[in-house]
Amino acid sequence: MPRDITAEPLFPVDDIQGDILTGLPKRHEHLMFFTIRDAASFKAFLKSLDLTSMKTCLKDRDTIAAQKAINDQLVPTPGLNIAFSFSGLQKLGVPQVSAMTGAEAYKNGMASRQATLLDPPQAQWKTLKPDAALHGVFIVTGASHAEVVDVISLRLAPAQTNGWRLLSEEVGTVRPEPVVGHEHFGYADGVSQPGVRGRIAATTPFHPTVAGGQDNQAALGQDLLWPGEFVFGFPGQNPGAPSFEIKGPDKAPPIPFMNHGAYLVVRRLAQFVPEFNASVKAASAAVATGADQADPVLMGAQMVGRWKSGAALINAPTEDDRSVGDNTPRANAFEFGDDRQGLVCPWAAHVRKAYPRDDVRHDVTPDETTVSAAEAFTQSHRMMRRGIAFGPELTEDEALSGLSANGKQTRGLLFKCYVTSIENQFEFVQQQWANVADFSQELSGIDPIIGQSVSTSRPFRGAAPFSKDLAKKPDLSLRSFVQMQGGEYFFAPSIPALKAL
Ligand code: HEM
Repeated sequence: MPRDITAEPLFPVDDIQGDILTGLPKRHEHLMFFTIRDAASFKAFLKSLDLTSMKTCLKDRDTIAAQKAINDQLVPTPGLNIAFSFSGLQKLGVPQVSAMTGAEAYKNGMASRQATLLDPPQAQWKTLKPDAALHGVFIVTGASHAEVVDVISLRLAPAQTNGWRLLSEEVGTVRPEPVVGHEHFGYADGVSQPGVRGRIAATTPFHPTVAGGQDNQAALGQDLLWPGEFVFGFPGQNPGAPSFEIKGPDKAPPIPFMNHGAYLVVRRLAQFVPEFNASVKAASAAVATGADQADPVLMGAQMVGRWKSGAALINAPTEDDRSVGDNTPRANAFEFGDDRQGLVCPWAAHVRKAYPRDDVRHDVTPDETTVSAAEAFTQSHRMMRRGIAFGPELTEDEALSGLSANGKQTRGLLFKCYVTSIENQFEFVQQQWANVADFSQELSGIDPIIGQSVSTSRPFRGAAPFSKDLAKKPDLSLRSFVQMQGGEYFFAPSIPALKAL
């Protein structure tokens, strides 16, 4: 149906924190976990705290684009956002917070969901172990380390006078050229994000419809979703509708304070890079004979669902093709409907698990109506990802030995995402899709990147990219290369809600 911009909500761009819908531009990011020592001083500090709004982020993005048109010089983009744990909202005496119903995951914290998510026991966590004194996190971003430090000293210090104390910190850094924006296994990250309906001014859509594309897409393959999926107080998706375009009811905030805010999920995910590379080689050797012999590079792409350039396997079935990779118009222009049997992109490939697009659960011959209804359901489980890499680059010694220098040299992804339902979005994807061997089809296996399992044998049914022969799909067993080392659920309120405390 044609897009009617005026029917989409107008965002209060001064009020919504910038990281949620736009993303704070960043090369460096510090997550500073804090406790509130003195609620009165902290509230006074909040009143004058310069938080980066969606409006500032939009302006920064325009400045970066304008600079890019001239040269690659980095533009200073200091950013600061804040989010609170449930105990943080209680400490601040947010009205009605103790009577808040639902939102069990947020209220009880990530560690309480260990059995649901199949996370490692908290005794093994390296950070963010449950702590009632953990009240919140400052998200500080910049184009350089110096810029981040500048924000800390200009806006956050002195901690004591401002009523807070640092408990712990995680430092993220974008990887160096030419792998800027790639995660540590080497694949372009942040390629696919949901398109969002809504306006930033009377007649200006936040995500305009791309020329030559469809009315329901912000870019080729980037479906436009209702913003209540990511910020409270706006209409959300309608999972039971015949089409994902049909608006669902408003996502009402659990308490008024939460209007125009979002939950933030933070997880420290260590990546065992040499072990991943060794496993990719072993897995490709296991299918080394016959028509579907896959070299390690292809096998790695099958585990992710994209090549290192970001090109989707569906668009580049047998070799990487930068012309459809990250930052190209066709990076997200694909569905799985022409590969229902998972012969090109395995059903369990990370991107196919995390966002199955037009896949239909346990049905490889669906009709159009079934596909459309399945898409409407799938679009109610999306998330706005805002992760960044952490840790040093792989050393030559680690590469040669095939072993990460554990403890000293951990590296990985500081995973962050914004949602309005932790249970139905982040947890659903992790628990019902990534960790489950029969999603999307029976015998798919678990997500080789983020799937968690109590068993050490992790099934992964590969693809048969050359023969396209169903009988030739390999049954592989992989070890785990990603280890969850701690995390927590937070809430990022609107800026006026904080000032009014
Ligand atoms: C160390 C851990 C992880 C690594 C290395 C990783 C890597 C990647 C890569 C390379 C992509 C493809 C590029 C892109 O579209 O951005 C991707 C996409 C994605 N990942 Fe992850 N990821 C990790 C953790 C997670 C977690 C914990 C979740 C959520 C439970 C998640 C959800 C997604 C989603 C939703 C997409 C987009 C799929 C799409 O729209 O096509 N990822 N990830």
